[in-house]
Amino acid sequence: MFKVGLSGGIGCGKTTVSKLFTELNVPVVDADDIAHKLVKPGQPALLDIAKAFGNKVFNPDGSLSRQYLREIVFSDLQQKQKLEAILHPLVFASIQEKVNKLATPYCIVSIPLLFETHMSHLVDRILVIDCPVKIQIERVKRRDGLADARIQSIINSQVSREFRMAHADDVIDNSNTDGSGLAENVKKLHNLYLSISASLG
Ligand SMILES: Nc1ncnc2c1ncn2[C@@H]1O[C@H](COP(=O)(O)OP(=O)(O)OP(=O)(O)O)[C@@H](O)[C@H]1O
Ligand SMILES: [Mg+2]
Repeated sequence: MFKVGLSGGIGCGKTTVSKLFTELNVPVVDADDIAHKLVKPGQPALLDIAKAFGNKVFNPDGSLSRQYLREIVFSDLQQKQKLEAILHPLVFASIQEKVNKLATPYCIVSIPLLFETHMSHLVDRILVIDCPVKIQIERVKRRDGLADARIQSIINSQVSREFRMAHADDVIDNSNTDGSGLAENVKKLHNLYLSISASLG
C-alpha cells in the first residue's frame, strides 16, 4: 500500500484537506484519532499513563485529563519522552494495522506531528499543508478561541515552516482565505498518487 503522510502546522488545514481526500474515496488514517482512542477509559495505555504520571491524570469521571498531561509534558522534555515512549509504539502499530486492511491504490496517513515524532519513515511520500504563521494564528484563534501567545507557543513547539517545506515531496498552499483552489489541488495530487501507485504495480 502506497502511503502518503499528510502533515502541517497547527491550523494549516490538515483536517480540511483530509476531508477533500475522503470525498475522493481515499481512506484517511488519522494518527490524532488513533491517539485519542488509545487513551479512552478501559484502554491499557491509560493505565500505563496513570502508572507513569500518577492518578492526577484522571478526570473525576475516569477519563484522561488532557489539560493536566499537556501542562506536565509541555515544558519538561523528560516527561514528554516518557509519555511518547508509552504512546508512539501503540500509534505506530495501530496505523500499520489499519493500513494493512485497506485495498485502495493508496491511502493518506494524517500525522500532524510527523516530523516532531520522527514518523516520516512510516510513509512513502510527504504532503505538507502550508500557510503563513499569521494566518495559522488567525484561524486557530477563530476556531479554538485561544490567546495569541498560547497559539504562538504551540507553533514554537512544532518544527518550523521552513523545515516542513524542505522535507515535503508535495505542498498544498492553503493561504487563500476562501479556500479556493484547494479541491483542484487535491484532485491534481490524487491523480499523481494514483499514477505513482500504478507504476509501483
Ligand atoms: N483556506 C481556508 N480559508 C479559511 N479558513 C480555513 C481554510 N482552511 C482551513 N480553514 C479553517 O481554519 C481552521 C483550521 O483548519 P483545520 O482544522 O483544517 O487545520 P488543521 O491543520 O487540521 O489544524 P490542527 O493542527 O489543529 O488539527 C478551521 O476552522 C478551518 O475551517
Ligand atoms: Mg486537524
